[in-house]
Amino acid sequence: MHAITIPEPGGPDALVWAEVPDAEPGPGEVVISVRASAVNRADLLQRQGHYPPPPGAPPYPGLECSGVIAATGSEVSDWQVGQEVCALLPGGGYAERVAVPAGQILPLPAGVDVIDAAALPEVACTVWSNLVRVAGLGAGEKLLVHGGGSGIGTFAIQFGAALGATVISTARPAKHDRLRELGASHVIDYTSEDFVAEVKQLGGADVILDIVGGAYLGRNVAALATGGRLVVIGLQGGRKAELDLGALLTKRGSVFATALRARPATEKAAIVREVRDDVWPLVAAGTIRPIIDRRLPMSQAGQAHRIVESSDHLGKVLLTVP
Ligand SMILES: NC(=O)c1ccc[n+]([C@@H]2O[C@H](COP(=O)([O-])OP(=O)(O)OC[C@H]3O[C@@H](n4cnc5c(N)ncnc54)[C@H](OP(=O)(O)O)[C@@H]3O)[C@@H](O)[C@H]2O)c1
Repeated sequence: MHAITIPEPGGPDALVWAEVPDAEPGPGEVVISVRASAVNRADLLQRQGHYPPPPGAPPYPGLECSGVIAATGSEVSDWQVGQEVCALLPGGGYAERVAVPAGQILPLPAGVDVIDAAALPEVACTVWSNLVRVAGLGAGEKLLVHGGGSGIGTFAIQFGAALGATVISTARPAKHDRLRELGASHVIDYTSEDFVAEVKQLGGADVILDIVGGAYLGRNVAALATGGRLVVIGLQGGRKAELDLGALLTKRGSVFATALRARPATEKAAIVREVRDDVWPLVAAGTIRPIIDRRLPMSQAGQAHRIVESSDHLGKVLLTVP
């Protein structure tokens, strides 16, 4: 089989489509013949040598894929060869075939084609686990989504609105109209406006889904409502910052930080089950849609990384296997 390899960490040209050993299923695994994968911000870090795959994961990038089941392991009985599926991966999606624990596979949601389904597993599992399990977001609450134009953001806006939350989002102005269409009631240009002042005017955020990290910690706490929950899932603005516990304490606020990729397979399987039960019906009903910026052939993964690095995309950039 072929996969995108990284012979030497570096820029987008470090990604090389090359022949590699074939993926074989372990006893509890399924091999997927990949039709598409999607670019995640983490793949850029992996390419640069800053985000090694967890132990046991394939060395190739790709945290999600869609395709057709090509083989099943000896202990797998609930999936059959030939079924179209998508999957949450610890890595290895940028390839013609990938082996994945059976618990991390999802059926295609009704109405979503096999290519577009590659846009869903990582964002659905990340957003579901953080907004519902960690932050306990409820109807009527105010949700601030930083980076609303990201893959994560476009899903979080739709999901927050579907839960009955009022969604506020930050993004560059070119993306504002699309974010409103997705369900954001208020959109803030973080390059020229003070999001803290804007959010405070709306009464403060009950939940913040943050991808900036260090650079926003103090301002995020300032934007929280009483009892607010800040969930940091990205560190695009650095990993270190001073936390004013007095400000947090006065608001009875909470700060969480989580990462999906490093979780054990059993925890990922539990999240995947919940996503199948509680999120897939919203996708099947058309309430939440995969937001695809563009599709490129897998062999052009370097070009796809350039696009995501520029942040000019909105939603997901897909990589397709012919
Ligand atoms: N912890 C986890 O389990 C987990 C899982 C998946 C993803 N993530 C993280 O979630 C983030 C999004 O991932 P992705 O793959 O969806 O990213 P993406 O599509 O590459 O989007 C990144 C976005 O960040 C926005 N951005 C940059 N600086 C910003 C700022 N100061 N304020 C607001 N927005 C800003 C850019 O939007 P503009 O064009 O508007 O600037 C861009 O759209 C990444 O940091 C990723 O590492 C974490």
